[in-house]
Amino acid sequence: MSTPFTIAIDGPAAAGKGTISKAVAAHFGFAHLDTGLLYRAVGAKLLLGMEPIEAAQRLTAEDLQTYGLRSPEVAQAASKVAVIAEVRAALLDFQRSFARRAGGAVLDGRDIGTVICPEAEAKLFVTASAEVRADRRFAELSAQGAAISRAQVLADVKERDARDRNRAEAPLLPADDAVEIDTSDMSIEAAIAAAIAAIEARRA
Ligand code: CDP
Ligand code: CDP
Repeated sequence: MSTPFTIAIDGPAAAGKGTISKAVAAHFGFAHLDTGLLYRAVGAKLLLGMEPIEAAQRLTAEDLQTYGLRSPEVAQAASKVAVIAEVRAALLDFQRSFARRAGGAVLDGRDIGTVICPEAEAKLFVTASAEVRADRRFAELSAQGAAISRAQVLADVKERDARDRNRAEAPLLPADDAVEIDTSDMSIEAAIAAAIAAIEARRA
């Protein structure tokens, strides 16, 4: 496909956006961008003492490969820099160009269907209860050997969700034309199948 086809996948922390996005991108043969990584890379620089707006303006592809971007500390720092309008503005053009690239694109984040690509051909809003999301993220972090309790993971997830939902700039909220998928009681396979079915319906 040479014309753009953008799939926007938004939702709160650990809802399953990344898992679904990778599978959907593979299914349709589209490129995938995890936009959370951009904010995590800027958050990591904040933790190193750098000025976040400048860090966002100078972000490089190598910064996205930095070790440790998936840590809970970096996640919190990411949501703090993500409230800054100038940080979001610095990351906009890259995301917009990626979204409209020839051959199709899947982007996952918080504001893809609302701000980055309101014209996206398919929009999903992936959710799950905070308890389920904390369980999933805790399992993931434990498997990586992180020293963190399940209670702390739940508190972190809730704090980050509240910051993401209540900010003035590009808050986390479903686009009017997004299809909502609650994965609380779904297996990964079922969530992927539901996502592909919703996108196929938009392609038809
Ligand atoms: O990208 P996001 O933070 O929304 O979530 P993810 O990284 O895709 O998923 C978080 C964790 O939940 C991963 O370990 C997934 O394997 C798991 N997961 C799950 O158990 N059931 C689902 N339906 C979706 C994801
Ligand atoms: O994987 P998880 O859902 O836990 O987080 P992420 O997608 O990597 O995003 C980390 C943080 O970056 C979020 O809590 C948001 O504050 C911010 N973010 C954003 O503001 N806009 C996006 N499009 C993506 C992430």
